[in-house]
Amino acid sequence: MSDFTSVAVLSWSLGLRRWWLSHGRELITSPFLVQPKAPGRSPTSNFILFSFTDGYSGNLRDPTTFLDVLNIMASIVAPVLFIQCLLSILLTTTLAAPINITRETFRTCRPGNWFGNPSDCCPPKIIKGPIVDFCPQYDATKPLRVRKALQCLSGHELKTYTRKLEKGYALMRALPDSDPRSFKRQNEIHCAYGTGSFIQDGSTNLTIDLTIDVHMNWHFLPWHRMFVYFHEKILQKLLGDPEFSLHFWNFDNSVTATPRHGSHGCYKAGHFVPPMYNEPSKATFEANRSFMAFEPNRPVDIAFDLSQLNPLLGLPIFPNNTVEEQTRMNREIMHRSMITLANTTSFIGKAYRVGDARIVIPSAGSGTIELWPHNTLHAWIGGWMRQPSTAPIDPLFYPFHANMDRLWSVWRKLGYGNDDPTDPDWLDTTFLFWDENAVMRRVKVRDFVDLNALGYTFEEVNDASWIFFDNSTSPGAP
Ligand code: C2O
Repeated sequence: MSDFTSVAVLSWSLGLRRWWLSHGRELITSPFLVQPKAPGRSPTSNFILFSFTDGYSGNLRDPTTFLDVLNIMASIVAPVLFIQCLLSILLTTTLAAPINITRETFRTCRPGNWFGNPSDCCPPKIIKGPIVDFCPQYDATKPLRVRKALQCLSGHELKTYTRKLEKGYALMRALPDSDPRSFKRQNEIHCAYGTGSFIQDGSTNLTIDLTIDVHMNWHFLPWHRMFVYFHEKILQKLLGDPEFSLHFWNFDNSVTATPRHGSHGCYKAGHFVPPMYNEPSKATFEANRSFMAFEPNRPVDIAFDLSQLNPLLGLPIFPNNTVEEQTRMNREIMHRSMITLANTTSFIGKAYRVGDARIVIPSAGSGTIELWPHNTLHAWIGGWMRQPSTAPIDPLFYPFHANMDRLWSVWRKLGYGNDDPTDPDWLDTTFLFWDENAVMRRVKVRDFVDLNALGYTFEEVNDASWIFFDNSTSPGAP
């Protein structure tokens, strides 16, 4: 854009001015810019294209020189570039805008796809009842709810939590399909938002539909924070326990460490599938996972080669690493995704606004955190978790995403100038979610960047296990 401007302005001032001074005045008297060449004269070079009458004397001035051509080209090109530039400013300011999900978005929903795999998961096209703006209402007199690390729950707390989870999911699964809070309908909404089923309002008639996807761009983190937030609210409501917190799967924590004097929190490795999600009798169980996810002592592999994610290549191949090797690789990849490769743009993901086409190649739009550990772990868990049309059918999706949510907040606190985008097209994006009372809420990204305003926080854990990857000799000592 700025290149266009300077080229346009420069050629305008150099080219048009010179051309006007030498030839332009004839335009006032002659209706034709290009006159026939004088008979009997032949051009002396290929560059001699036009002949002009001399603006001063009226005599035929011939032949045109290369410089004349340059001048005339410049004076034609310059205004074109200039106008194009003005137009694009106008278009950008009128077209580029934050994505807003509306009733119309739901009305025009239609089957989507993911890497060519078709999906058919539109919620009802007509949103019944009002759409109510969501405002975080945090009561500062109340302590923040704490989402804890699953691997550190112990004794009584573990028992109570497992019982509550079990009950919450049983109730959620029992809700009828007509209830948007049901377990099934929550998967459906993730599918619609994640497989290009929604199209940008007003783009229905375009040849290329501008579909919406909350993956592979800067919507990934805020949208999933909202999704888990409402999921947690629905569990609270079903359990009749407004203090219930959805504890997180601390899969990035590969090292059990001894907390230093004065530190507190959870310092136990969390890189195994949390056992309460692996008990066949529980409502939090899902059989459709890769065999690796059922091996109690196998750490997750978040570090495998991303190019294997292409579904056309079949199932990814996971090397059979020892616990030590895997731990080292996981810590290294976390260090890269959260620190070495993670500036604001590369961490959060690519901008995606009204008028942008859906990004369909993860590496073209996803932030580092979405590529690893998110995409790699989805693939490692396998089964329903392998694709966005089905991922939340596995209850493990939720503590997994609670940790993604936590990692975003950890990244912000790491320093290195890390901060969320300030672009209003990101901040003013609005999504629609059904809340715990089945009321449709309009939710703004800007209201979901600050956890404390939402009333919760995360238990402290041993992030040092990957923060200090480069210079640690003994693994993960905090
Ligand atoms: Cu919408 Cu982990 O994906």
